Parts: sequence; structure tokens; C-alpha cells
Amino acid sequence: MTDLASALTAANAAVFASLGLDARHAEVRRSDRPDLGEFQCNGALAAAKAAGRKPPEIAQSVAAAWSETALAPPPSIAGPGFLNFTITPAALAARAKAIAEDAHAGAALVAAPRRVIVDYGGPNVAKGMHVGHLRASIIGESIKRIFRFRGDQVWGDAHFGDWGFQMGLVICALEDELGGFVDAAKLRARLQTLTLEHLESAYPSAAAKAREDVAFRDRARKATAALQAGAEPHRTIWRAMHDVSMAAQKRDFAALGVDFDLWLGESDADPLIPSMVADLEQKGLLEDDQGARIVRVAGPNEKKKKKLDDGTVVEVESPDPLLVVSSEGSAMYGTTDLATIVQRVRDQQPDLILYVVDQRQADHFEQVYRAAAKAGYIAREALEHVGFGTMNGADGKPFKTRAGGVLKLQDLIGQAEEKARERLRENEIGGDFSAEEFEDVAHKVAIAAIKFADLSNFRGTSYVFDLDRFMSFEGKTGPYLLYQAVRIKSILRKAEEQGLAAGPIAIGHEAERALALALDGFDAALRTAYEKRAPHFLAEHAYTLAQAFSGFYTHCPILPSEGAVRASRLALAAATLKQLTLTLDLLGVAVPDRM
Ligand code: ARG
Repeated sequence: MTDLASALTAANAAVFASLGLDARHAEVRRSDRPDLGEFQCNGALAAAKAAGRKPPEIAQSVAAAWSETALAPPPSIAGPGFLNFTITPAALAARAKAIAEDAHAGAALVAAPRRVIVDYGGPNVAKGMHVGHLRASIIGESIKRIFRFRGDQVWGDAHFGDWGFQMGLVICALEDELGGFVDAAKLRARLQTLTLEHLESAYPSAAAKAREDVAFRDRARKATAALQAGAEPHRTIWRAMHDVSMAAQKRDFAALGVDFDLWLGESDADPLIPSMVADLEQKGLLEDDQGARIVRVAGPNEKKKKKLDDGTVVEVESPDPLLVVSSEGSAMYGTTDLATIVQRVRDQQPDLILYVVDQRQADHFEQVYRAAAKAGYIAREALEHVGFGTMNGADGKPFKTRAGGVLKLQDLIGQAEEKARERLRENEIGGDFSAEEFEDVAHKVAIAAIKFADLSNFRGTSYVFDLDRFMSFEGKTGPYLLYQAVRIKSILRKAEEQGLAAGPIAIGHEAERALALALDGFDAALRTAYEKRAPHFLAEHAYTLAQAFSGFYTHCPILPSEGAVRASRLALAAATLKQLTLTLDLLGVAVPDRM
């Protein structure tokens, strides 16, 4: 299924070719000056340059050669030779009909589906999920859905952080709490009462201790290495911590409407590490570096300036080498990431792996990707870091609670739900709902507000956390979009109750034109979101579509109109609801039945 811009481009390319002009200059796009025309081609300028002729002359010959088609009358000419096109009402109605009937609501699928892994979420065991993982989860979930919707075979993987230094830290903290691990019964009893709250308070205090207390830090490092070597009781303790964290994180992900196909973690790549290290060794890629083992990934001329502790500036290789085995013999963050690539190539044979992770980890991924390509595990182009900015507080710094701590995801969702209940009551929504339905709607409104606020910014842009603004029923917000979708549902329900059916679409009123054009825009928005791995293009589309519907609803009464006009408007409303619901679903946002 092609959108109107593609159809116009094809027709225009035929005209260009018939005039002996390079058809590549014939591209027609949505106009950014809709007052002049809905679609525009400015290729006459480039075509004129190539032909050594004047742009207005070329534009005139193109316009003259455009015979009246079903798609659009000959273009008008603006400025130095811009061609402006206006779609015929019949072509617009045909496109709206196609969208109304299409399961993909007018979107084209990929020509050659690929196998794609989306690595996102990435919470850490022993740390509760906090707002830092919120963006990874929201953006990753949307990207996964977008890729899948366009026809790729997609696996979402949570890639739990469950194999690093933090495990050594909490193991040592527990050891100190129990006065050693000699009493096996005591340890067993303690592990049975382990809670996420305990881990969450143990981790930061152990991390703080390790920063000051060198002996404690060394013990934690050794404990990490011992765990990875399979020592007891380290393994048993790790398993207990892992399970407690995992259960809590599954609960948080479910509340957020985020789901994974693979619930794997760093530890799952552990069995592959020894053979991988041997392989890197055998390929001559491992080097000794003060007792550690590294892979150099910088090219011969890739250098950066580095300031030493004494203030002197030296040139060092850039990116830094990848640390594969620490001097204690343990696997590092990069080691598990590299081994996970080996694992994924073995198990899923991906054409592409997208890592939806904070953009501050860009250097880490560059090291890992280069090492993987150097070792021949996968092509460098198959690995992509989809970075994002931070969610900030009013002070412009990464968001913290008033007490200065990280806000737990569960608490954030709770706060949003509370606000959603308030707003629903203020707007006199749900007074007649059962308590259960009211709660369900409040939850959906809360999640829509949080997710849409995030996804309406380009992922690379940081934004300020402002629950009041996110939760507004007006403007570019999740609740506004839900409200619009629900309003269409209610119109369609009433029509059904009155026995009114949809019929052939006809485009008469300006507002009907605008709505049909908005519907046509879904394909391009989805394509751009896919290509740029940027859901905000879809968020923008959802808003444009909702606004176009709002204009349509104001100017074109649906139920009070009659006959063929009413049937056409009902069909337009149904197509809008389908596409809006789909778009919101691609953003990970669910629409309630009524509100
Ligand atoms: N656990 C990591 C963190 O909290 C994120 C994991 C991202 N994914 C990856 N393959 N490294 O920073």
C-alpha cells in the first residue's frame, strides 16, 4: 500500500522522464506550506541545473505535460519553480477507503523482513528499577512494536544486569551482616527472608562503602570473581537475589505494559565466556594490560587527548580498549555484552541488534561493537546503539526524588495513578463506573501520560519530568489522545445503537479533506520512526490525527447528518479510530473503552 506522496512521485516521475528529465528529481513530498498546495516537488530546480535551463521554464513544461489524472490536476507553480499539487477529492476518498479496509491502516510493510533483536529495559539485579530504566523500557518497547508491525521478526530482550560488581558488593554486605557464611542454616534462613527492599538498601550502602574502604572494595571484587567461578555459597546467594529482583521487575514491567520475548541477563552469557576468551586469544586479539586482558579497538590514527593526574596532557588511543578479563580474573560489563553477541548469533541469527540504552553509554557500545566485528562475530553495521537523553528534574539534572534519591518505578506509577484519579474526577469522568473500571481507566491514563510525555520528544533530547503537564487533558499529552480515541468509540457506539452503518467515503468539506490527508500521513510517519528508530514521529502523527479529527468533528456533524454523508463520515470516524488505536499501540499505549 503506498501513500499519496509516493503515488504522486510515480506519476510525476513519468512526466519528468517523458520530457527527458532525470526522474530522480521528481520526488513529491508533503508540503510545509499547505496554504499553497498539499504536496510539493522542488526538483525542477535541480533538473534545470542539470539541463542547463531555467527552473521556471522546466516547471512550466512539467505542468503542461501533466495531463488531468484521477490523482491530481496539473500542478501550479510557485516562486522560482516549485510545483504544488492538490489531490482530487476522488483520489483522497479512494485512499481513505483503502486505509479503512487495510489491517495495517495504510502503512507499507518492509520489502525484506529482517531478524531483529531489541535489547532494552536493562534493569539491574540488587537494584530496584528506577526512572533511569523508564526511558529504556518505554522507547525500547515502542521500537520493538514498530519493527514487528512493519514485518520484521523481532525479539525483545531485557538483558538484566546480573553478573557484575554489584553482585560482589551485596554478597559482601550480606557476609558482614551475618558475621560470615560459616553457619549454613543461618544463611539459608536469611535468604528465605530476602526482599527487594533489603537489596535496594544494601546495594547503595555497599557501593558507598567500597568507594571509601579499599579492603571492602577488594573483597567485593574477589567475591564477584568467586561468584563467576561458580563458588559457594556465592552461587546460592546470587540465585536468591536474582529471583527476588526478577519477580519485582516482572511486576514493574507488567504495570508499565512492557513485555519481553527473552528474559535473559548478563549471567546467561557466562557459559560462553571461557570459549570466547580462548577464541579471542587464538585470534591474537587479547593483550595483557597490567594483569588484565584487553582488546584494542582504536585504529592507528584514532587518538584523543587525556589529562593525567599531574595535569600533563597525553595522547591516547580512542576508543579505549575493551576490558575483557579484569586483573581479578572476572568478566566485565563489556565481556558479558560481547559474549551475549556470540550467544545471540548462535540462537537468533540476527541481522540487526538494537541497543536501546542511555546515550552516556555510547563509548562502551562502540568498544563492544568494534571488538565483535574484529573477532568476526557479526558485522559492525548489524550493531546499533539507539541512545537517549535523560529525564530531568526541574533543576535540569537527571531526575531525583525530593530526598535526593532515585524514584522507584513503582512509586512513579503510583503517583501518576493518583494524579489520574484526580483529573478524572475534575473532568467528571467515570462517576458512573464500577470501582474496578475506574481504577483500570486511571491506570491507563497514568501510563499513557508517562509514555506519551517521553515519546513525544526525540529520544536524544532530555526532558523535564512534570507530572502535572503530562497529565493534562489538553495539548499534546497522552490523556488528550486517549480522550479523543474514546470519544470516537462513543460516537461509533451510538451509531450502532441507532442502527446506522458506515458507507462509501466521499470527501466534500475542507475538514474531511484535512482528516483524510492526516490518515494518509501514517505511512510516512511510521517509515520515518522505523528508519530513525525514533517513535516520536508516530507520537507526532497521533497528535496530528487527533487534531484533524477534532476539526472534522466540529465542522462535520456525524450523527445529526443524513444518508450518504452520514455513512461516509461514520466510515471516516471508524478509520480514524482504527489508525489512532494502532498508532497508540505502537507507542505502547492502551485505550480504554470509555472515559
Ligand atoms: N544494566 C545496564 C544499566 O543499568 C543496562 C544494560 C543495557 N544493555 C546492554 N546490553 N548493555 O546501565
